[in-house]
Amino acid sequence: MSNKLNTIILAAGKGTRMKSKLPKVLHKIAGKALVERVIDSVAKLGNIDNVFVIVGHQSERVTEFLDNTYSKEKVTVKSVLQEPQLGTGDAVFKAYESLKGFVGTVLVLCGDTPLLTTETLEKFIQFHQSSGSAVTVLSSIIDNPTNYGRIVRDDEQFVKSIVEEKDATELQKQIQEVNAGVYCLEWDKVSPAFFDLKTDNSQGEYYLTDIVSWACGKNYKVNAFTLSDNNEILGINSKLDLANAACILNKRTLNTLMTSGVSIIDPSNTWISPETTIAQDTVIYPGCYIEGENEFGTDCELGPNLFIQGNVKAGNGVKLIQSKLSNAIIDDNSTVGPFAHLRDCVEVASHVRIGNFVEVKKSKIKESTNVSHLSYIGDSELGSHVNIGAGTITANYNPLTKVKSKTIIEDDVKIGSNSVLVAPVTIQKAANVAAGSVITKQVPAYSLAIERNSQRIIEKWVERKTK
Ligand code: UD1
Ligand code: CA
Repeated sequence: MSNKLNTIILAAGKGTRMKSKLPKVLHKIAGKALVERVIDSVAKLGNIDNVFVIVGHQSERVTEFLDNTYSKEKVTVKSVLQEPQLGTGDAVFKAYESLKGFVGTVLVLCGDTPLLTTETLEKFIQFHQSSGSAVTVLSSIIDNPTNYGRIVRDDEQFVKSIVEEKDATELQKQIQEVNAGVYCLEWDKVSPAFFDLKTDNSQGEYYLTDIVSWACGKNYKVNAFTLSDNNEILGINSKLDLANAACILNKRTLNTLMTSGVSIIDPSNTWISPETTIAQDTVIYPGCYIEGENEFGTDCELGPNLFIQGNVKAGNGVKLIQSKLSNAIIDDNSTVGPFAHLRDCVEVASHVRIGNFVEVKKSKIKESTNVSHLSYIGDSELGSHVNIGAGTITANYNPLTKVKSKTIIEDDVKIGSNSVLVAPVTIQKAANVAAGSVITKQVPAYSLAIERNSQRIIEKWVERKTK
């Protein structure tokens, strides 16, 4: 049997129960859209030809999202329009033209089941292909099967059909084995079924599930692959489901991290995306919300209270306390926070201290430099062993020309407190800037720049004023 694989992801439905302006499949869990999570677990399978996403409700918005997200990826994601939405069978049929002549397996999934893992899909496809079935459906045994389609088996336990909740008899409603909405179809055998589907059901829709009884009628082999982890099939229909799924995904991530040696003080109060890697003996304190792709080394201390929005790479022994970070590289043994904000391409070398109420934007800071209190460092390059006094500001923006300029501070420079460095400006090696100065011109190496009025004393001023 051919190992070639095409995928169809159904994402045209309205998602009414989400009660949202946003299309259902674009809602996020752990920083990624539902449909993105489904596509990503499919993409990791490897041998994928195409991923067809069936779009309908707010199709422009979903298509735009897919085009932006997957333009540079190895996997080809193509939107296919289903208008009007006549049911799941009709949705798959929309990919018929694109798959004409294809011989091999088509994997069909729903865009609202974000918890399915690549490992499960791999086993499912392997089972399907090695059993020589024409149709395999992913099933699960659940305590409360309400609203799911039920897997109907005959006396010998062969799968015969799938019956929807709304069409089921009282006896069929007792069946606890449900349809997860994921299928493997041998396309050359099963694709003719889409011309035979009928709408003679309680919802008046073309049901994809009817291909099971169709294939049985043609004497094709039909199977179900039953999952043990029921959580994986969870479909998101409401914001309640969304929160529930996010909890399950987070728990899965934290368990993996703890098993590999990461200490998490309070797993009930820690959120980490599955795309974040953390080395052993790093400690995560409560109140961390970590989204996106990130990498942390060993012996780091993260939190308490940390908001990370992705693309943060920290070495070993890094401390990030009570801060907000995105797009930052921080080398070994550096400290950020409390109350710091690093964003837009920040590079911090080792043994650097970025302290209380400091914002760093698009800047490079070399080793053993301190920016410890109340500063804004933007579009700057700081050398090593620099000390930036409390309250120092790099004035990088000219509001008249709307141009942002660079501040360069070379090695061993000391900037006195409450100075303003008006860019473009360079403070050369080991120079000092006196506290309270507004620096607009280059400061030569080893010199002192002082720009403020000399102090005046008015004797007995207070006595005179209070008489
Ligand atoms: C479907 C299955 C049911 C299964 C359940 C699993 C059918 C008839 N029923 O029911 O057996 O237990 O999923 O979650 O297939 N969609 C389209 N176009 C349409 C209709 C739906 O793209 O015309 C998409 C939706 O966006 C959604 C998916 O198909 O992603 C499933 O549709 P939904 O209406 O949620 O089906 P269920 O009633 O949940
Ligand atoms: Ca559903």
